[in-house]
Amino acid sequence: MADRPVILITGASSGIGEALASELARRRPTARLVLTARRLDRLDRLADELRRTFPGVETQTIPADLGEPEGPARLASAVLERAGGVDILVNNAGLGLPIQFVDAEPDQVARQLAVNLTAPLMLTRYLVPSLIDRKGTIINIGSAITCVATSALGAYGATKAGLAYWNDALRRELIPMGVRVCLVEPGPIKTGFMEAVESRLPAGESYDRVIDNVMPWMTADVRDVARKVAGLVDRPRRRLSMLKRVVWPFRVLGTLATLCPPLGDLVVVRLTRRPLAPPRTAEKAL
Ligand SMILES: NC(=O)c1ccc[n+]([C@@H]2O[C@H](COP(=O)([O-])OP(=O)(O)OC[C@H]3O[C@@H](n4cnc5c(N)ncnc54)[C@H](OP(=O)(O)O)[C@@H]3O)[C@@H](O)[C@H]2O)c1
Repeated sequence: MADRPVILITGASSGIGEALASELARRRPTARLVLTARRLDRLDRLADELRRTFPGVETQTIPADLGEPEGPARLASAVLERAGGVDILVNNAGLGLPIQFVDAEPDQVARQLAVNLTAPLMLTRYLVPSLIDRKGTIINIGSAITCVATSALGAYGATKAGLAYWNDALRRELIPMGVRVCLVEPGPIKTGFMEAVESRLPAGESYDRVIDNVMPWMTADVRDVARKVAGLVDRPRRRLSMLKRVVWPFRVLGTLATLCPPLGDLVVVRLTRRPLAPPRTAEKAL
């Protein structure tokens, strides 16, 4: 690895990306961090804080909307122009839409596909020559939701399942070229991501309350997640799942559902509580 590795983190304005930027700056005090997301004010604030805390760290902030068709290409060329190449690429930006498929507006579905799936593939495609030259590392942030197909997060899960398939294929393709490719599969973490969940809760409920009262044992701390993900740079792993006590039971349930689909249907339909709403957006979709 170069003395001053260039680390590009997408979705660095909050949650996992923000915590990971701090953790990587702490571990690599001579790194050149390139931070990107749409909210430039938050990126700039984080960059200032990192430079103050770790004076050897260099930071660059690049605003980019990865939901736009030209977003990944524009971001890749800005990164290559300003930093000259990339040693570590973290494909982290993503959004969840906790909504049944028939209730989702078609443009919400399209945006989720663009940010969560198309953007990491295309950004990596533009940057892969540099990653090969530098024998770099690619870290893709997937989701434990892929263990069990869940109707309330169907389109979101599809983007993460696609990401996981591509991650494994890419890892096998790039092994001979010395590039490491790692998949991270988190369960629930208290971040801005949960605001989407909050928007679906009954009036008066907040996701803080739901997480703190109902599922504190299921929820990972974002700083712990950042520490584990940062550890992949020195000790790459094919797949990192956390929290294990949450992911493994889901994995077992997913295997049972694959082996016995009627049981899987029964459990998931019960768990998602609400019957499928009538397809009120179907006409718009056509
Ligand atoms: N939190 C969880 O429970 C959980 C569980 C499993 C997997 N994950 C995954 O973890 C990753 C990070 O999520 P998080 O939990 O840290 O949530 P978060 O706090 O909401 O962060 C999401 C990041 O993605 C960026 N982003 C969203 N839309 C974008 C767009 N169109 N263009 C560019 N950047 C965009 C956001 O920045 P701007 O809004 O500034 O653009 C933000 O920095 C996601 O891929 C998510 O799927 C999260």
